[in-house]
Parts: sequence; C-alpha cells; structure tokens
Amino acid sequence: MCGIVGMLGNRNAVPVLIEGLKRLEYRGYDSAGVAVQHETELELRRAVGRLSELENELTQHPLSSTIGIGHTRWATHGEASVRNCHPHTASEGRLALVHNGIIENYQELKGDLAGKGFPFQSDTDTEVLAAHVADCTAEGDFLEGLRRALAGARGAYAIGLLSLDQPGVLYAARLGSPLIVGKGRDGVFIASDVPAILPQVDEVIYLEDGEVARLSGDGVEIWNLAGEAQELKWVKVEMEDSAVDSGGFETFMLKEVHEQTRVVRGLMDQYVKDGKISFPDLDMSVGHIRTLQRMMIVSCGTAYYAAMYGRLLIEHFTSIAVETDLGSEFRYRSPKIQPGTLVATVSQSGETADTLASVQMAKKAGCPILTICNVFGSSLVRESDHLIYTHAGPEIGVASTKAFTAQLMVFVLLTLHLAEARGELTPESREELLAELQKIPTAIHRVLENKEHIKEIASRHHDGPSSLYLGRRFNYPMALEGALKNKEISYQHAEGYAAGEMKHGPIALINESLPVICICTETEDEVAEKMISNVREVQARAGRIIAIATEGDQRLNDITRDIIFVPRTTECLSPLVNVVALQLIAYYAAQARGTDIDKPRNLAKSVTVE
Ligand code: M6R
Repeated sequence: MCGIVGMLGNRNAVPVLIEGLKRLEYRGYDSAGVAVQHETELELRRAVGRLSELENELTQHPLSSTIGIGHTRWATHGEASVRNCHPHTASEGRLALVHNGIIENYQELKGDLAGKGFPFQSDTDTEVLAAHVADCTAEGDFLEGLRRALAGARGAYAIGLLSLDQPGVLYAARLGSPLIVGKGRDGVFIASDVPAILPQVDEVIYLEDGEVARLSGDGVEIWNLAGEAQELKWVKVEMEDSAVDSGGFETFMLKEVHEQTRVVRGLMDQYVKDGKISFPDLDMSVGHIRTLQRMMIVSCGTAYYAAMYGRLLIEHFTSIAVETDLGSEFRYRSPKIQPGTLVATVSQSGETADTLASVQMAKKAGCPILTICNVFGSSLVRESDHLIYTHAGPEIGVASTKAFTAQLMVFVLLTLHLAEARGELTPESREELLAELQKIPTAIHRVLENKEHIKEIASRHHDGPSSLYLGRRFNYPMALEGALKNKEISYQHAEGYAAGEMKHGPIALINESLPVICICTETEDEVAEKMISNVREVQARAGRIIAIATEGDQRLNDITRDIIFVPRTTECLSPLVNVVALQLIAYYAAQARGTDIDKPRNLAKSVTVE
C-alpha cells in the first residue's frame, strides 16, 4: 500500500528510483511518480497506471539528477489521476514530498493554509502536508520547521522530502508507517522496505516513530521529534537478492506456493532442537505460561484464519480459553479483556493498521502482547513483549501463501510448547505429534507434485459467477482461506462456510452450476461422517462437487469424479497440507480467468490504513 524510495548518491538516481519502485509494486498501487532536485528547480514526472506508464513518460521527457524521491500511490484521498499522484509540491514547486499513510486533520490544515493563500490542485491529504511543511519551514531553521510541521500533523506518515532551500539534502520521517534509511557503495537511500533497495545497500536503519532523518553529503543524521540527536543503529542486510526474484516461476505466487515445503521444514529446524521446542524471542517463562487463563488473538484477512486455527489447536490441547477477533472489529467494540490476558497478533507484514491499533488498545488495558510476524523490525514487532518470527522470507505475491502456512506451523509449535509447559500433554502425544509434523513437508511436496491434476479440475470449474467452500473444525478456517484466495486472485465470488451451517442458508445457492469445494480429509474423528453427510446434501441438489480427500479414502468415489487426494496426516495437522491444494485451485482458476495474479486489482500487500 503505497511505496517510497529515495536516493542521494554519486550517479543518476532516476534508474535506481524506478528499480526501487518496481520492487515495491507488490504492495499495490494505481499511479506512480518521481521528483529530482536540480540547482534551481525540482522536476517531476508522474503517471497513472503501471510503472511502464511512468517509464514511457521518462523516455519522452528524461530526467537526471543524483538526488530524487519516488512513490507508488494506492489511492485513498481522490481518484487515481496525475493531479493526485505523488510527489506533491508546494511553494511554487520549491518543495516536493512523497507520503505513505493518512493525515487525519488535513481538512483543518487545508482550511488554514487556503486562508494564507496556498493553492491546492489535488484532492489529497499529501498535498496539504506538503503545503503545511512549506508554511512551517518558510522562515528560521528548516529542520526545526519540519519538526513543528510534523508535530502538527495528526495521523500516520512516512515521508521523503526535497526542498530547493536545502540543496543536496533528502529528508525522511516516520510515524506509524514504515521507513528505512540505507547506505551502500553509490550513496544513501530511503525506502518503505529493505527489498526495494536491496541491491544498493549493505546496511540499514529502521526509523522509529517520531524520528526525522537528514541524508546529505555528510552522511545520515537522525533526531526525534523533540530535536534530540539519535544514535545511528545500522543493521547489516542479510537478505539474499534471490529471495525477491521470481526464480524462474511464472509468478511470485507460484514460487511462494512451492517454497512452502522449505518454509515448514525451516521452522522445525529453527524451533525444534533435539526434540525440544524453544522460541528464542518469546521471552515467556514457564511460570507465566502456567498462569495463563485467557488468550485473545487479533488479526486481519488471511492472518485471521490462521488465528482461528490457532484457537482451535490451543483449546484442543490446553485449558487456556482463547478468543479471536478481527482487528477492525476489536478496536471499535468494548472488549472485556482483563489485564493479564495474553493478547496475540498474527501478521505477515507487521504493519496492518487495524491490528496495530488493537495492540495499542490492549496494551493500554494492561495486557502483554505476543506477536507472530514475518517482518523483522516491523511496527507490530516493536509494540510486542513476546515474539515469534514466521521466517517465511519476503512474500511478494499480494495473496498470502507461504506466510500463512508458516503462521499455521508456528501455531502448532506454540500449542505444543504451551501444553508441555503447563503439563497438559503427555510425552507420548507430544512425540507422536512431532513425528507427524516431520512428515508435513513431504506431504506438501506431494500436493505440489499433483498440480497438473489440480489445474485440470480448476480450469473446468472456474467459469461460473461463484463458488462455495466447505470445511469443519480444523478445516473450517481453511474453507474460509480457500474462498478468500479464490476471490483475491481469480475475482470469482467465493464463500467459505462451516459445512454444518450450510443447511441454515447457503444450501439455497446449490444448483448444477455452483462449484462446491469440500474439504473431507477427516476419516476417523467425530466430524468425519458428518462432513460426508454434508457433501451428500450437496450431491442431492446436483452441486458440482470438488473434494479434497485423504489418499486411500474410497467414501467419495460414488459422489464425485473431481477428487484431489492428499497424503494422510493427523486431523489437526491436515490444514497445513490441505491449504496448499486450495491455493493451487485458486491459482489455476485465476490463470484460466486471465487475471494479474501477483498484483490483483484494488489490493495492497500491507494495509496501513483503516
Ligand atoms: O500483513 P498482514 O498479515 O497483517 O495482512 C493481513 C491481511 O491484509 C492479509 O492477510 C490479506 O488478507 C492478504 N491479501 C491475504 O492474501
């Protein structure tokens, strides 16, 4: 959701800005722009649509300078148009600004600034912020004025700023939206994330909320909003560039789906040593774990379905009462969370605005925070007392796949850890589950090997307006996730439902043209027969059944010919395998429908606004 890149260096910055913006494309955007500084003017190029449009603009009207800023915009205030595109300028083009986030008091500021004669061309809050900065920096010390301007802006921001009054200087600041500063052979940089400038930098600083950075020929300086100079905390960049290329796959999503075998195995290597589970960043004593009575897990989107799975597991194996809620709901209801309730969040990006606001609310209520996250140094990570990284590596496809499977895996390991610490799991059950877990990477690999069959099924059923996904118990969240994946990338409406609820409404939808994806991998537990009965209810109404079933299970043979067999595993672990089949169904349906799989319309990778 919006991306920022900036450079001050010893060569033309424009190709680096464009390369950086391409690396930020995955975040979602609908227009893009760059600004560079010359001695007497700031020059801008902006275009609506894909970055290729901006590149065309630059071919027709080339730009060159060693200092510049660039931006991909995901529209919040005003439609995607050139006049709303960043960078925005103020003071007759003497100042240019790119911005991620939302300035909540922009109307108020705009009224004051209009009264002072500032003209406005766009509908954006960013143009108002640019004018506000220009107003505050018009006289006196520039840095002091910038700090005053930021202190008067309510909301969230990450900004990059150029001013003709500050030649050869690039300013950056953050509050609630991520921004990093980097340095490398060719200069100093700013960006929304590390992958954007990965080829350029050796070391980065993760700016803290309220910090302002000044990048110049003298290097990098950072102050907090009170004006106190901050120590520069450079961190060596460990990420490999191969982690952010598509590695020969036709899309990032397909690559990431295939990476799941490695991610799941990697998490076991990381967190299970000599049969013992330990989380280096969890920092939670056995005494604390034993006193836990309640947990609340808050998250959004796909991560919310991981939370639902986590709840099922923790309640199945321990006596801890667990609730889940969506970040966007939790923060606006009056949750009765007692101080001491462990509030957990799950997030790939660690930047999701609703999850972050929920955490801040829970902290005020005196709750310790556990975050399960994929991105080192992200905002959620900084807010947390206890941490578990999902180590899935950068996820570029907008539709989450490997980060989700990693979240599921972390919940399995966390559950075993909690149950063991509380004395609620026998050593035999623990051994048994760990032994089953060891087989999961191979099981995922076998599902991937079956992709041509899944593709054949998906491409026969992709054409209708809608589809229904059914599952029970541990696989109910997977039905929701399968439907979400399908909606996100194939744009086919899809609904996930608890199979037992079907008769209370959605059964009315079933006819011969509705594909119904039924997760039927339970074979022995108390929901196994019930799920088959639900499938027969669909069959009785001539629904087009696509079943996911356990290898060797004959029960569906007379019901449908479209069966995706997956390797047998314990029921509570089956979601880790089944979800891969669901991802591939969505993937091949999207491919048949010709959508932009890695960058589906209207979606952003990290949702940093409400
Ligand atoms: O970064 P997060 O995990 O907090 O993101 C939450 C959702 O925005 C995210 O899972 C979204 O639903 C994805 N597009 C799912 O594929």
